[in-house]
Amino acid sequence: MVEKSESIKEHVRQRYTEVARGAQESASCGCGCGTTSTASCCGPVSKEAYVQAIGYSLNELRDLPVTALGAAAGCGNPTAIAGLKEGEVVLDLGSGGGIDVFLAAKKVGPTGRAIGVDMTDEMLALARKNAEELGFENVEFRKGDIEDLPVDDGNVDIIISNCVINLAPDKGKVFSEAYRVLKPGGRITVSDIVTDGPLPQEIRDNPDQWAECVSGALEAEEYLQKIRDAGFERVRILDRRSFGLVYSAEVEAFKPLG
Ligand SMILES: C[S@@+](CC[C@H](N)C(=O)[O-])C[C@H]1O[C@@H](n2cnc3c(N)ncnc32)[C@H](O)[C@@H]1O
Repeated sequence: MVEKSESIKEHVRQRYTEVARGAQESASCGCGCGTTSTASCCGPVSKEAYVQAIGYSLNELRDLPVTALGAAAGCGNPTAIAGLKEGEVVLDLGSGGGIDVFLAAKKVGPTGRAIGVDMTDEMLALARKNAEELGFENVEFRKGDIEDLPVDDGNVDIIISNCVINLAPDKGKVFSEAYRVLKPGGRITVSDIVTDGPLPQEIRDNPDQWAECVSGALEAEEYLQKIRDAGFERVRILDRRSFGLVYSAEVEAFKPLG
């Protein structure tokens, strides 16, 4: 089981190494979950059309480096619905090229902080380069696994994540870690891929489909139950967007105050 989990993560890492390299080679041609099976091109879908389709406005992306947009591989726009306030500490699970960390950093301002965690070196290098270009002083990217977060207990106001938790072999661990690092009363707002029913076995067994954010998707109710099992309350789906066989859900949950 541990071996299988490690081999899935290695496959995912290779896939997003290619996406990060693709973004650097051509900022107008990256790739998002569920949009294509090639590593660095969304076929007939332009990056601008893709990010708009998943909920970003071109206005909010205007000042971001082209490589941040080029590496975008999400399935929603969690910062648009997270209700971020000045001074908050935000943690982004699987931050990729940094797009949501940068949007969050703008919203929480200089008294707040936005931290991204990712396990893929090329994505971290790209995100750090983008952060330098933008000149943010309230942004930080850490290398780590979202199943074992490099973050102290009770430090974070809000966790966001965009199309990443479905990629983790042990989603229960991800939600337990999220619970551990949040302050009492803290919240999670994530966009992620889930299903309405069981996926065909040949898709479940396909590592490429896992890395494309399909095979690792849980049925929505199972996903929500794992969040409750970690200790969260008021767990609910705020919105959903279809991606063929699977769909993207905007999910919110709260860590109890006491
Ligand atoms: C689909 S991309 C999404 C990136 C970013 N959230 C966005 O919206 O553009 C998935 C990202 O999650 C990272 N990732 C996947 N599994 C991870 C894990 N177990 N721990 C840390 N990062 C992970 C990958 O390296 C990749 O950068």
